[in-house]
Amino acid sequence: MDYQYIDVQPQAAAGVALVRLNRPKELNALCLALMEELTRALEQLDAEADCRCIVLTGNDRAFAAGADIKEMAGRGAIDMLRIDQFSMWERIKKIKTPLIAAVSGFALGGGCELAMLCDMIVASETARFGQPEIKIGVMPGAGGTQRLTRAVGKARAMEMVLTGRFISAEEALAAGLINRIVPVELYLQEALKLAGEVAAMPPLATQLAKEAVLHAFNSFLDHGLVHERKNFYTLFATEDQKEGMAAFVEKRPPQWKGA
Ligand code: HXC
Repeated sequence: MDYQYIDVQPQAAAGVALVRLNRPKELNALCLALMEELTRALEQLDAEADCRCIVLTGNDRAFAAGADIKEMAGRGAIDMLRIDQFSMWERIKKIKTPLIAAVSGFALGGGCELAMLCDMIVASETARFGQPEIKIGVMPGAGGTQRLTRAVGKARAMEMVLTGRFISAEEALAAGLINRIVPVELYLQEALKLAGEVAAMPPLATQLAKEAVLHAFNSFLDHGLVHERKNFYTLFATEDQKEGMAAFVEKRPPQWKGA
């Protein structure tokens, strides 16, 4: 299968597939085409009997710096509703095979949300997690207000979402967002090793156990996700969203109007 924005190694190790986001110049910004490829690849791997665990990674500088701001900048709320990008996120949510994110550098906005959509996160010491959407006039839309709050608690999630502050790998580990930190040369190796441990377990049991752990909060999560998505779309009707995203593209500070 030919992909433009990702690389897929179906057997990177015994029973372990590796999917790499591969838009390095844009810090792996999650354009719609990348998300389509990723969703398709994960579904195909999920259907393969000899794929027991999937590692999702980026590169040393960036796991992913968020949704593609340049692609979204001119869109309105109705465009966003019609495009319905979150249907792809819902499909990834249904992947049964355990997913491990191997994160180095930036995991921001949709990038942080994608890492949190995975079942475990192995980080390099340089990893930075954040939900900086507020700085471009919007808010998290793919689970940032829900999964982050569950992972790190209300106080820290509120601060991250309302100020856009990034947290370091160490802070993320202390807060319970990630599983472990290793030096940058080792994060992928460590994630593959962890994936190998999962892959050695009985596959039906790992799939059902994953499903059961996710059920610990899923019924509340579904309501929270719908609410978050509605607010995210609504912000595309504001002047501040246009201003925030235009300011990013033009590399200047934004002027907020509160409108
Ligand atoms: C589009 C992006 C991008 C993004 C970086 N780039 N992030 N393009 N969308 N999210 C591009 C830059 O424009 C630049 O392109 C190139 O990648 C390198 O980035 P720089 O800014 O020059 O690098 P640096 O100075 O090191 O700063 C890194 C950074 C910064 C701190 C990560 O790029 C940044 O703040 N990015 C935006 C982060 C963000 O706000 N993410 C949330 C997006 S909204 P050029 O052409 O100039 O070289 C979101 C909503 C999710 O994720 C909703 C559901 C999916």
